[in-house]
Amino acid sequence: MSLPLCRIQNLSITYPGQTTSALTAIDLDIYAGERVAIIGESGSGKTTLARSLAGLLPDNVKSSGSVEWTMHGGQSAAHPLAGRELAYVFQDPAGSLNPVLKIGEQVAESAHRHLALSYRQALNHARELLERVQLPDPTRLMNAYPHQLSGGQKQRVAIAAAIAAQPSILIADEATSALDSVTQAAIARLLDSLVQQEGMTLIFITHDIALASSLADRIAVLQSGRLVEQGEAERVITTPRDPYTRELIAAHIDLATPPLVLEPLQ
Ligand SMILES: Nc1ncnc2c1ncn2[C@@H]1O[C@H](COP(=O)(O)OP(=O)(O)OP(=O)(O)O)[C@@H](O)[C@H]1O
Ligand SMILES: [Mg+2]
Repeated sequence: MSLPLCRIQNLSITYPGQTTSALTAIDLDIYAGERVAIIGESGSGKTTLARSLAGLLPDNVKSSGSVEWTMHGGQSAAHPLAGRELAYVFQDPAGSLNPVLKIGEQVAESAHRHLALSYRQALNHARELLERVQLPDPTRLMNAYPHQLSGGQKQRVAIAAAIAAQPSILIADEATSALDSVTQAAIARLLDSLVQQEGMTLIFITHDIALASSLADRIAVLQSGRLVEQGEAERVITTPRDPYTRELIAAHIDLATPPLVLEPLQ
């Protein structure tokens, strides 16, 4: 088996002033090219885990254990370069875009900064990226402002900006949760096709187990800061080992259509 791209060992994180830790003794390996979903209810530590992978936690958190990345075939690095090697798409598409900058400028900025492109080249690259994320009429959109776009369109722009610098790792933290379920599914499909085309590693955070099962190769389940289960997506969905995973699946069956096909629990 090859070396994992990222090895998380015994990772615990406590925010300042808190008595309980946000993450407790997490062990998880992520392999290059994999699509890993991290699922769990609100407050279970998904964002804390994603941010610690990206090196985006505030300096004053108490942490123990390790997150080790093996970038570029052997070099161990504390973290991939945020923006360049690792892109992070946030939960709230409106919040991740600058309201006073044109769409074209926002997407071009990242390409300009990271790819040594002239600003003019970066703008051309931005137009191509808007096409890649399947936005209608990219030429017109280049000159639009965020408030002129729908939530789903804004999220597509945020994804275009995130992949502008051709990162090899994409972390999507609830990138679809602010959207309606049809748009969520479309964005999930878009992420899936982008990571496949580019051979990117996708770390996809969601509280929606159905979305996780449709997108991920592997699922890791967090409950109250602990990793209670991880495994191949199909195995986790069909034969969950942990009671909490079963609960998540059962809750999904109660609430959503179409239902997942499951084998009976013992
Ligand atoms: N900056 C912070 N300061 C103090 N506590 C925090 C901070 N950020 C998160 N926490 C706490 O850490 C725990 C994990 O939070 P986290 O945001 O990682 O959960 P999450 O699974 O991403 O939740 P959600 O689904 O609501 O986004 C929670 O108990 C939360 O209250
Ligand atoms: Mg979160």
